[in-house]
Amino acid sequence: MTAALFGTGLLGGAIAQRLLSCGQALWIWNRSPDRGLPLRTLGAQQAATPLEAAERAQWLITVLSDGPSTRELLLEQINDGLLGRNVIQMGTIGPDESRDLAEAVTRRGGHYLEAPVLGSKPEALAGTLQLMAGGSPELFEQALPLLRHLSAAPLHLGEVGSAMAAKLALNQLIASLTHAFSLSLHLVQRSGVDVQAFMDVLRGSALYAPTFDKKLERELKGDYGNPNFPTAHLRKDLALFQAAARAADLDPQGLDGLLALLQNATPAGLDPLDYCALHALTAGHRAAAEQP
Ligand SMILES: NC(=O)c1ccc[n+]([C@@H]2O[C@H](COP(=O)([O-])OP(=O)(O)OC[C@H]3O[C@@H](n4cnc5c(N)ncnc54)[C@H](OP(=O)(O)O)[C@@H]3O)[C@@H](O)[C@H]2O)c1
Repeated sequence: MTAALFGTGLLGGAIAQRLLSCGQALWIWNRSPDRGLPLRTLGAQQAATPLEAAERAQWLITVLSDGPSTRELLLEQINDGLLGRNVIQMGTIGPDESRDLAEAVTRRGGHYLEAPVLGSKPEALAGTLQLMAGGSPELFEQALPLLRHLSAAPLHLGEVGSAMAAKLALNQLIASLTHAFSLSLHLVQRSGVDVQAFMDVLRGSALYAPTFDKKLERELKGDYGNPNFPTAHLRKDLALFQAAARAADLDPQGLDGLLALLQNATPAGLDPLDYCALHALTAGHRAAAEQP
């Protein structure tokens, strides 16, 4: 299979590295070309333009930030180059955005599979992402040799839009669980309660989630650098979840406050840091401004 990957950021770079380590020949394109250099040393071929990469490969893997940037890449920069190509769209975008993209790609003679993932850079490098796919079962079957490099058991969930909805449902849990734990941790500390004693109670209860311990050390140290998943993307995904929930006639207003809190990440300089920087925001505005 000939493949090209667009967007060699935190996740896309790790996916590209994994594909190369599995022996998959790979063309790459990134808006900021320097970000592709480490992958070139691993054997990737870097295209000068998205169209050049699309002309070299049958499978086009997109891992861009959001819906608008992915749309611009596929429909404006590649556009007619989509003829006969199979797109695997891995960035997290809205279900409606994904359905619109699928329709537009199909109109240009291409094929579209959405394949969002749960997991981050370490899981991508190890090939242990949880991959959910939406699109035709036939295209999913054809894509499996590529997808299996990234995930032990890629799951086909249904039509285009279904996998994105599932991905947003999972990321709402990331945001809500991180927020809930962060607030409780702050209250425990400010009340002079021993954190380890609190954690012992929590770990022994049905309320415990492994993500609490995964982020505990970072939160206690205020260490949000070296991100796997940036705060700005968590905010984007929560906003997408709210839009999808409203479109499904749900009432997600309980998340409005959390989304407003995450807006404060931008002026506090936390957008590019790990999403557990949410802990600096729950600490209050003054404490957030003091973060690195
Ligand atoms: N990181 C994770 O753990 C993770 C996990 C699951 C899903 N995701 C999703 O995967 C996607 C990528 O995430 P990431 O963490 O890799 O983000 P990232 O490190 O911020 O990388 C974003 C990528 O998108 C490119 N990009 C942004 N705007 C663009 C534009 N207008 N035109 C062309 N390229 C553009 C960036 O290019 P430049 O280098 O030029 O800026 C970069 O390659 C997001 O949708 C995210 O929600 C991430």
